[in-house]
Amino acid sequence: MIQAVISSASFAERRQRLLSQLSEGSVLVLFAAPEALRNGDVHYPFRQNSYFWYLTGFPEPDAIAVLRKQGNGVHYTLFNAVRNPELEIWQGKIIGQEGALADYEVNEAYPLEEAAQRLPKLLADSTRIYSVLGVNSANDQRLSELLREVHRLTGRGGAPIEGLFDIRRELDEMRMIKSIEEQNLLHEAGRISAAGHRAALLAARPGAYEYTVQAALEAEFRRHQGCHWSFASIIASGANACCLHYHDNNAPLKDGELIMVDAGAEFGGYAGDISRTAPINGKFSRQQQALYEIVLNAQKTAIANARAGIRHLDLHRQTSILLMQGIIDLGIVDGNAEEMVDSGEVKRFYPHGTGHWLGLDVHDVGIYKIDGESRIYRPNMVITIEPGLYLQANDTTIEESWRGIGIRIEDDIIITEGEAEVTTADVPKEIREIEALLAERR
Ligand code: GLY
Ligand code: MN
Ligand code: MN
Repeated sequence: MIQAVISSASFAERRQRLLSQLSEGSVLVLFAAPEALRNGDVHYPFRQNSYFWYLTGFPEPDAIAVLRKQGNGVHYTLFNAVRNPELEIWQGKIIGQEGALADYEVNEAYPLEEAAQRLPKLLADSTRIYSVLGVNSANDQRLSELLREVHRLTGRGGAPIEGLFDIRRELDEMRMIKSIEEQNLLHEAGRISAAGHRAALLAARPGAYEYTVQAALEAEFRRHQGCHWSFASIIASGANACCLHYHDNNAPLKDGELIMVDAGAEFGGYAGDISRTAPINGKFSRQQQALYEIVLNAQKTAIANARAGIRHLDLHRQTSILLMQGIIDLGIVDGNAEEMVDSGEVKRFYPHGTGHWLGLDVHDVGIYKIDGESRIYRPNMVITIEPGLYLQANDTTIEESWRGIGIRIEDDIIITEGEAEVTTADVPKEIREIEALLAERR
């Protein structure tokens, strides 16, 4: 049975583990995401800031978490919205300070309005103030002002505060290694994403529109506990698939063309991210099949090779060479595959990476190089494997019959010491399986 939520004890364990890496006197200040106004009285759907969520599990906007290292422990102060019966008639229940103390393992909770006055005092004994710096300029400014206030309060003879420090190096490293609870959520996100893709394939047919497919895909996400997408769905038919992040999703589906769907559901805050490419009329043409098999072979080879100890950039290089060799063998382009990869010419046909970290963010946190050297995979890292080939419609250097074809195949995997665990296997990618599924359309 999937555990659908991360327990409050797990959030507390993360806080403890993170702060145990910091020196005595350190404090971490984190801001919840604000609500964003779309237009008059209408907000964008609220999504909690991933860092804030990862360490607190607190779901409301406009909150500040202050985590002070105290020996081996953490003292957690939360500033959050006060309960307001009138407002709650409009927007639903607010957790409030009592709720935070009862359910979120908070040591102290105060109204957000008191933060300006209380925070400098709370930080007066600290030596280092950590936060997520350089991502949100409004938060950076709040922190600079806070630091000034702390300086004013403590004066020259006060605590030797060393300044503001970015927590992302330590925090991103933690987020890269997924716990079993997180992996369960990623498995579920993968399953729901796959169900959406099956529905999308069944909705694709000549005469339908890209948005018809989008509607079927996202309706299926919704049918699974109200899930939403993890990023804006890309529903790209024909040459639209050559635009990597195509979002118009409004073209009619044409007999003889392919459709490329790149979409994923978010479950429990964790992202799925799948791409599939299929023939709109139900049957790959010879040319489409030839190109598809190159991408499929590169994708399956990369999944088979992705395991602990492998360097991320080596996997990308091997995959790029396979793709280039494939189109050289088909006579689409002349050259030497390795040279084309090393010179960067590959980017004409394969302009993106072979995969990215996946987690609370679809393009999850974590650096890909350390001191100029590729990252080496470790167990419990989670990554996508998503090779593609894109033969641009206006590329006059290739024969006309090949132009305007874009293919991407993407799955999500959990790295282990052995074979990777694929979380998105429930949607076909073999040619015969895709054609069999499409034959079910009426
Ligand atoms: N949909 C974005 C990606 O696959 O990275
Ligand atoms: Mn991806
Ligand atoms: Mn994708």
